[in-house]
Amino acid sequence: MTNVINVDYSTKIPNNVGLTEDRTVLRALESWHPGYIDWWKTMGPEGFQEALVYLRTAVSVDPKGWAKFDYVRMPEYRWGILLAPAEDGRKIPFGRHYGEPVWQEVPGEYRAMLRRLVVIQGDTEPASVEQQRHLGKTAPSLYDLRNVFQVNVEEGRHLWAMVYILQKYFGRDGREEAGELLQRRSGSADKPRMLGAFNEATPDWLSFFMFTFFTDRDGKMQLESLAQSGFDPVSRTCRFMLTEEAHHMFVGETGIGRTLQRTCEAMKEAGIEDPSEIDKTRALGVIDLPTMQKKLNLHYTLSLDLFGSEVSTNAANAFNAGLKGRFQETKIEDDHKLESSIYPVLKLVDGEIKRVDEPALTAINMRLRDDYTADCQRGLDRWNKIIERIGVNFKFELPHVAFHREIGEFRDVQATPAGVLIDDATWNRDKGKWLPSTADGDFIASLMKPVREPGKFASWIAPPRVGIDNKPGDFEYVKLAA
Ligand SMILES: [Fe+2]
Ligand SMILES: [Fe+2]
Repeated sequence: MTNVINVDYSTKIPNNVGLTEDRTVLRALESWHPGYIDWWKTMGPEGFQEALVYLRTAVSVDPKGWAKFDYVRMPEYRWGILLAPAEDGRKIPFGRHYGEPVWQEVPGEYRAMLRRLVVIQGDTEPASVEQQRHLGKTAPSLYDLRNVFQVNVEEGRHLWAMVYILQKYFGRDGREEAGELLQRRSGSADKPRMLGAFNEATPDWLSFFMFTFFTDRDGKMQLESLAQSGFDPVSRTCRFMLTEEAHHMFVGETGIGRTLQRTCEAMKEAGIEDPSEIDKTRALGVIDLPTMQKKLNLHYTLSLDLFGSEVSTNAANAFNAGLKGRFQETKIEDDHKLESSIYPVLKLVDGEIKRVDEPALTAINMRLRDDYTADCQRGLDRWNKIIERIGVNFKFELPHVAFHREIGEFRDVQATPAGVLIDDATWNRDKGKWLPSTADGDFIASLMKPVREPGKFASWIAPPRVGIDNKPGDFEYVKLAA
């Protein structure tokens, strides 16, 4: 049996889940659809609804299925319901039901917990589209403009994916939750999105790249652990979403890589040896490396907060129940039940940061966060190689996990990026050295001038090495409406 599953594009909602034979769910989705389009038109990319964008649409889940690229107006994008293929004989890979056949229906005792996990994941998807809706106006190139729109339509599809799960498996309250997902708004005072980082502004393109690198990567880790789920439809839908998420990671990593590359090249050309010569560097129309480090500090720590408390009984319950596993659960060599194992957690003990052994079961969030940090570090290593290759003496570093936290062990203390605990006065005096200031934001904003000529790029970012779909450098990725 091959892994290729073809998508039915003959229906209004493209899918590979046999919607035509599933009248109840089809009707529920069709009645949700107009509200979605309405949301997209009012909260999606501002000013580009008529533009023709060179987007990819999934036609099957194997790599070749991504080969379908075409110009499309975003409101006409074929948002579909796509699940990765079922694995024959799949067993629940962890928790108290370890080794039992996976569930195709929601187990009654876990219904509320599962619904909550799906709603929280679902809520992040439209939130990021809302956060990014103004970016089109200042895109540094048509290539980048196309990339943000690709990310946006896929986040929209991820919302569809979660809404399908809600409507198919959770009946009436699932339909209500699906409606609520279109009501909340990123940054709203009375109906905000559910998680902190998804209510922050994404005011400029460096923020966008940092967001896709750090916050979409949290999304990747959450999807990875839900892809392990014993509830098979969630596992399959997350496995498919991960194939799209890979592109979001790519946009973030290469976006920052191209930005720092341009900075380093400009510094070299101008003979600036010391990266801390911020004014001289900025005068070249590029973003200085220390400011990029501050942006990194901000986005990394906001994203760490998304993992929740280091020690969490909710996370333990979801693991025990077989709903949400660990990163690459099936590759881990242990009992997959965590009845007696321990996991080291950094905690605040008598005013000091100490490593404490906790039951691995309650430290599930901590472990996922550590895996996340390692994944982030690999990206930093690649950026640092670019800097080194160009010959600039600077290294990006991830700040300590006690730095700038709102959630978990360190939420009530202040620490430096190196992890030294400090008092409030010191924090207030020095935080401008570690986190972007208003003036930093203003400087970045001053560089955000749109570039719309095919093949041209703004002063602060290098062109990509290869085009999307191997297109040549001057390809017109977005045809703006006349
Ligand atoms: Fe997503
Ligand atoms: Fe994403």
